[in-house]
Amino acid sequence: MRKKIAAGNWKMNTTPAQGTELAAAIASRRNEAGNDVDFIICPPFTHLTEVIRATRGKGVAVGAQNCAAEPKGAYTGEVSAEMLASIGVEYVILGHSERRQYYGETSETLNRKLEMAYANNLTPIYCVGEKLSEREAGKHFDVVKAQITEVIYNLSADKLARLVIAYEPVWAIGTGKTATSAQAQEIHAFIRKVLTEKFGDAADMVPILYGGSVNPKNAAELFGMPDVDGGLVGGASLEAESFIQIGKSFR
Ligand code: PGA
Repeated sequence: MRKKIAAGNWKMNTTPAQGTELAAAIASRRNEAGNDVDFIICPPFTHLTEVIRATRGKGVAVGAQNCAAEPKGAYTGEVSAEMLASIGVEYVILGHSERRQYYGETSETLNRKLEMAYANNLTPIYCVGEKLSEREAGKHFDVVKAQITEVIYNLSADKLARLVIAYEPVWAIGTGKTATSAQAQEIHAFIRKVLTEKFGDAADMVPILYGGSVNPKNAAELFGMPDVDGGLVGGASLEAESFIQIGKSFR
């Protein structure tokens, strides 16, 4: 059985005080979803220590939204995977489309970031997904395949066992436009096939999350698809009520 995951990507939202309050509210209600659902929240760097304190021992894991591609040194403004791991961070989102688009992250950078994450026992949540123009041109399979082969194919099999993938079509992020459950299933199954070609049966255990305007109304249908193992949720993770409802949407 693959893990079921409700992951919240807070992006650049909330103050540390608001974020700590939100984390505590999520932690106090996460049991409503049962123990077979893993909850992960990914606040901004400034909130991590307090959010980890507020959720410790309560069944909510904490992730960062990025980490440096280098281990340490003269990289002004960067935060290393080692720093994150040392305060109790367990996950790190890597390759989010906003990072690819606004900060020029390439497969080359992402290979190094994944290496840093693994070296420090952080589980990467590696994001893939096509832009609207790429889908309209019928290139979405090729784009997603390249994002997988250029980065994930470099991993050893033992690392694959500590990997979460998130498929997030760029046209569905923050737009209110969700992929249909059939569209999500089609590409999730394709991602699993691409992983299987390289890693064999081990690909069956990799959780593949859907992201892009997931909300309490559409989550159950998306999560009901055989290869959709949960969600990477932006906007709807900023309120405890909606995030908990999404966590309760697994069958
Ligand atoms: P959204 O963001 O749920 O607000 O569309 C998802 C994401 O970018 O991870």
